[in-house]
Amino acid sequence: MDQQMRTPLFTALVEHARKNPTQFHIPGHKKGRGVDPEFRHFIGDNALSIDLINIGPLDDLHAPHGIIKEAQELAAQAFGADYTFFSVQGTSGAIMTMVLSVCKPGDKIIVPRNVHKSVLSAIIFAGAIPIFIHPVMDKTLGIAHGITTSAVRKALEQHPDAAAVLVINPTYFGVVANLREIVELAHSYKIPVLVDEAHGVHIHFHPDLPDSAMQAGADMSATSVHKLGGSLTQSSILNVKEGLVSAARVQAVISMLTTTSTSYILLSSLDTARRQLALHGEEMITKVLKLAEMARREINQIPGLYCVGKEILGGEATYDLDTTKLTIHVSELGLTGYQVEKWLRERYQIEVELSDLYNILCIVTIGDRQEDIDLLLRALRDLSDQYSTTKEKAEIPIHLPEIPLLALHPREAFYAEVERVPLRKAAGKIMAEFIMVYPPGIPIVMPGEIITQENIDYIFENVESGLPVQGPEDSSLQYVKVIKEQSAIR
Ligand SMILES: Cc1ncc(COP(=O)(O)O)c(C=O)c1O
Repeated sequence: MDQQMRTPLFTALVEHARKNPTQFHIPGHKKGRGVDPEFRHFIGDNALSIDLINIGPLDDLHAPHGIIKEAQELAAQAFGADYTFFSVQGTSGAIMTMVLSVCKPGDKIIVPRNVHKSVLSAIIFAGAIPIFIHPVMDKTLGIAHGITTSAVRKALEQHPDAAAVLVINPTYFGVVANLREIVELAHSYKIPVLVDEAHGVHIHFHPDLPDSAMQAGADMSATSVHKLGGSLTQSSILNVKEGLVSAARVQAVISMLTTTSTSYILLSSLDTARRQLALHGEEMITKVLKLAEMARREINQIPGLYCVGKEILGGEATYDLDTTKLTIHVSELGLTGYQVEKWLRERYQIEVELSDLYNILCIVTIGDRQEDIDLLLRALRDLSDQYSTTKEKAEIPIHLPEIPLLALHPREAFYAEVERVPLRKAAGKIMAEFIMVYPPGIPIVMPGEIITQENIDYIFENVESGLPVQGPEDSSLQYVKVIKEQSAIR
């Protein structure tokens, strides 16, 4: 633990800045003097003084041998990994590194279909073949959960030559499958398990939360320290356990995907967030769990609202729940999640993490205070007072996105000859683009999939509800790119 009090990267950076060297290197703003005065005044000279670059004394993320190496080693110790790599390109960068480190062109990768677009982008870059597992859909809440051990077993029996299995642990809504079991199963085939841990940095640090990827014995995890662990936006880590994957290969790949101008503000925020989590994580998360539990109890007393809790557990895909996530089902009020998101913004200046057609998601973190939760509760009570007694409530039937069939390998589709067709008339065509709602960034259709009329209706249902649908080059969503000459899977 003593070791964990150290912040080698942040400390050395501050010491270097204090020496006030004369700089003939980038960044050209030189300690803020060249920065626009309004921005400089706002952000402050302290921040600008450590906006430095990989000069000799400050090590180099691309070939760490000094303070960055030490900081990464301390992070590995804190996260129970053999190696930790810092990412200044978010968890998206770490996810792409995981996939590209283990997949070469033509390799199969077993993945849930409800993955973040970074996984699918990496599959396109690698030229890998996705073996999709359909996640378990929750028809009451209108959301997708994780994948089951049985589904992974079936996929492995059919594809024992897969290069990797990728699991989301936990999902955006905090649900986890039995990761230990999935890891044991994949390892019995000598296949590595890669974990998208974008929404789970904190779970490693509290015994009442689900197992983290490293605790469950996974081989790699892409973990967003910035989302829930207190570092700055865009800073994430990639944890590695050696055996089925090579840390040297991971270092080479992450370096290929990373800017050469790495932000030391982001890197040092990872160093200090790790210290805080290692030393005080459990105590801080205990408070978070209490706040979230109190909020959940109170929300469940409010007419027309339902906040998901551990009562949903029991199935293979719903093995455990990170209860710091407040998934609030709002359909009974006759409103969509997006309408509630807007109402909260306009009336109470509350911003939620995401909304969909049926729910809003509020995350409770180490940054929350009792007063924030009190405001949320006050707002939700007011919302319910206004809408739960309305006689003619709009019916919000739950539609889940239909999972399209994959007709072409995603990379082939992405590079194929394409034509633009009106989205409303695209049913039956093979897509050359992604279409998704962001957040959460899970594609409704992706390159290589045959878009159905039901997919198109679902896309427009989201658009008409005001949700942020994106992906196609034509951002108005009038036209999409589809494969010109359809060809069968090779
Ligand atoms: C499940 C999941 N994976 C990966 C990511 C990517 O994380 P980042 O935004 O840090 O690149 C996200 C972001 O929303 C996500 O929800």
